Amino acid sequence: MDKPKKLLVLTGGGDCPGLNAVIRGIAKRTRKEKDWDIYGSKEAFNGVFANPAELIKLTRSKTAGIHVRGGTILKTTNKGNPINFPSPQKDGTIKFIDRSDELIKRIKELGFNAVINIGGDGSQKISQALYKKGLNIIGVPKTIDNDLSSTDMTFGFQTAVQIATDSFDKLVTTAESHDRVMIMEVMGRDAGWIALHTAIAGGAEICLIPEIPYDVKKLVKRIQSRYVNGTGFVNIVISEGAKPKDGTIVSSQGSKGSEHVRLGGVAYQLSKQLKEAGCQAEIRETVLGHVQRGGSPTAFDRVLATLFGVKAVELLLEEKFGQMVTLKNNTISSVSLEEATQNYNFVQKDGYLVKAAKGLGISFGD
Ligand code: F6P
Repeated sequence: MDKPKKLLVLTGGGDCPGLNAVIRGIAKRTRKEKDWDIYGSKEAFNGVFANPAELIKLTRSKTAGIHVRGGTILKTTNKGNPINFPSPQKDGTIKFIDRSDELIKRIKELGFNAVINIGGDGSQKISQALYKKGLNIIGVPKTIDNDLSSTDMTFGFQTAVQIATDSFDKLVTTAESHDRVMIMEVMGRDAGWIALHTAIAGGAEICLIPEIPYDVKKLVKRIQSRYVNGTGFVNIVISEGAKPKDGTIVSSQGSKGSEHVRLGGVAYQLSKQLKEAGCQAEIRETVLGHVQRGGSPTAFDRVLATLFGVKAVELLLEEKFGQMVTLKNNTISSVSLEEATQNYNFVQKDGYLVKAAKGLGISFGD
């Protein structure tokens, strides 16, 4: 019998509910093919760079039942870009170097015939660059932000919206009890999908997203319109990347080399701006943060993630490399990594969702 072929799987970038469901989907579907062995690289490509390589054989016992678990059994990082790899220097500084050729050589030396890279926008750009250099690679999109344009939805997004909506519902009752303005900050650095869906699902009065800069005076007017004889309440949902007209985004920490600028704190900035613009009501702020990325995926996300995993193996068996799995018009399909990484999925200001939200009376402060 011929030696089995070897598949390498990895998760890159921020974690996201559903990653384990993809890994299990890939493992289960691959096990049906007797001539494939499957391994996971620990912490994105860092497991391949490690000496000796840190690889996990994805046996039945390693992957059984993991679809219900949040996080990733393979671990992940957003500091392991092989094309811009952080290399600490003797003088304490960090130099960024291109290690992609070394990575491809290592993958081949380790005997791998193909790679499935589960990751967001940044990870799929890496997949495309490695594919162009000759690596047999397939992408599986993930992100709670839903900001990849070639797929109708990414797994993790629904779970994040559910967590945000559950939290929002709790803030509504306390806002009403105290006649307060409640500001809830959600993730979404460049795209406001989580905020927009939460605003509609939760019934927010105000929704602020990166794509629509807001006018503080208009927000104060909207808030005041909700108070009659001193009684009323307002619930606001704001994306971490939202900004006022002529303003800038709020970062809690600057960019560290290849790591992105850490956002967070926009709820506090908005609170201050509202008070300075004359808002009389009492205001409280809640920053949801990483709870949105944690815990068990919803049933929808488990299904989507599992189907993505199965589809990735089908592409592998058909030797359709350089492709990324997608959900398009209710069909699991694929597009080239090149096409998949070209455009960012912004919320459209004149799109149906924003129009519908405005029709419901939700203010975007524009
Ligand atoms: O890209 C997904 C995301 O959830 C963003 O919305 C958020 O700004 C970022 O990850 C946070 O990343 P980290 O875990 O590195 O703080």
